[in-house]
Amino acid sequence: MPDVLLLPGDGIGAEIVPEAVKALKAVGKRYQIRFRFREALIGGAAYDACGHPLPEETLRLCEESDAILLGAIGGPKWDNLPVELRPEMGALLPLRKKLGLYANIRPALLFPALIEASPLKPEIVSGMDLVVVRELTGGLYFGTKKREFVDNGDEQAIDTLVYRTGEIERIGRLAFQMARKRRKKVTSVDKANVLESSRLWRDVITGLGREYPDVQLEHMYVDNCSMQLVRRPTQFDVIVTENTFGDILTDEASILTGSIGMLASASIGGKVALYEPAHGSAPDIAGQQKANPLATILSAALMLRLSFGMEEGAQAIEAAVRQVLDEGYRTADIMQPGKRQVTTAAMGDLVADRILA
Ligand SMILES: NC(=O)c1ccc[n+]([C@@H]2O[C@H](COP(=O)([O-])OP(=O)(O)OC[C@H]3O[C@@H](n4cnc5c(N)ncnc54)[C@H](O)[C@@H]3O)[C@@H](O)[C@H]2O)c1
Repeated sequence: MPDVLLLPGDGIGAEIVPEAVKALKAVGKRYQIRFRFREALIGGAAYDACGHPLPEETLRLCEESDAILLGAIGGPKWDNLPVELRPEMGALLPLRKKLGLYANIRPALLFPALIEASPLKPEIVSGMDLVVVRELTGGLYFGTKKREFVDNGDEQAIDTLVYRTGEIERIGRLAFQMARKRRKKVTSVDKANVLESSRLWRDVITGLGREYPDVQLEHMYVDNCSMQLVRRPTQFDVIVTENTFGDILTDEASILTGSIGMLASASIGGKVALYEPAHGSAPDIAGQQKANPLATILSAALMLRLSFGMEEGAQAIEAAVRQVLDEGYRTADIMQPGKRQVTTAAMGDLVADRILA
């Protein structure tokens, strides 16, 4: 029985997570799988209840579960707490680190019904379906940092970009394996013309590529990649890259799909993976049933695919989302003239209903 830990968190988290649960239950019914759902506190809600954004009990339940579905955390109420008690710094980053989640997977899939919502011209963005695999626990963000005063009184700051072969190999392998299940193409993004760490990255990925002769491998400099993403996003299948490059490229890729309320993500690599929408807790619309639950529902599809190997179930969710959008249902963030606006819960009901249809 797959054991799923639900962490609704703050703001719209409490509205969107139940909608993803409806989708998982519908998949369970259709394919005779019984999920076990447990729930725990995280973020501001946890701080309010027990004085810490990542209580021991929550961490224990995370480690015991088979997969975690997170809503979102944070909000103005907790912005003035000491850094280590703020929801993101005190809960999300330590949780990712403790669970060893070294890979962030962010698909950028354009649903045809939302083509007008993309900032790119329809003829350029039509058919876009790519995944960015970002290294999450190494590179520039985790290297040694320091600030110091030098001879002439200037202050200088130093960040270091460190990668080991093992770190590159494990993320590279993941990208190749993912490409095998997709359109069999990996684009490894680096800055090997300038950075030594990128030259090591390129060597390791090239070596790895020989183990996956059925997957086409190309190398691309990060500056070129950021341009190619808006020039011809359909050329990409799986993009694999280091932490900082990935941070920037995932944001660029994600907006091409039209709305932040559509973007799923998975952080994987440890025993237990974490699935969450790419957006935050949206305090401005919390409690109003205006939130788009589709990013969370699509994150549940990723969970089925990546944690439970239930490709059919994942596809059933994705097909249901596509159908509901094709039928013209929209939450407020993706509303267009002539379409039917629905609440968060109504959108969740529609998707669950189409999964079972
Ligand atoms: N992983 C996380 O939990 C995470 C990620 C980013 C931000 N945050 C936190 O969330 C809080 C709010 O941050 P923010 O306002 O910068 O970003 P946000 O993503 O919460 O909201 C940005 C804008 O997008 C809208 N939006 C976001 N998700 C939506 C959805 N599902 N449907 C419809 N509209 C949606 C919001 O209404 C808002 O106008 C902050 O405390 C921030 O630290 C948490």
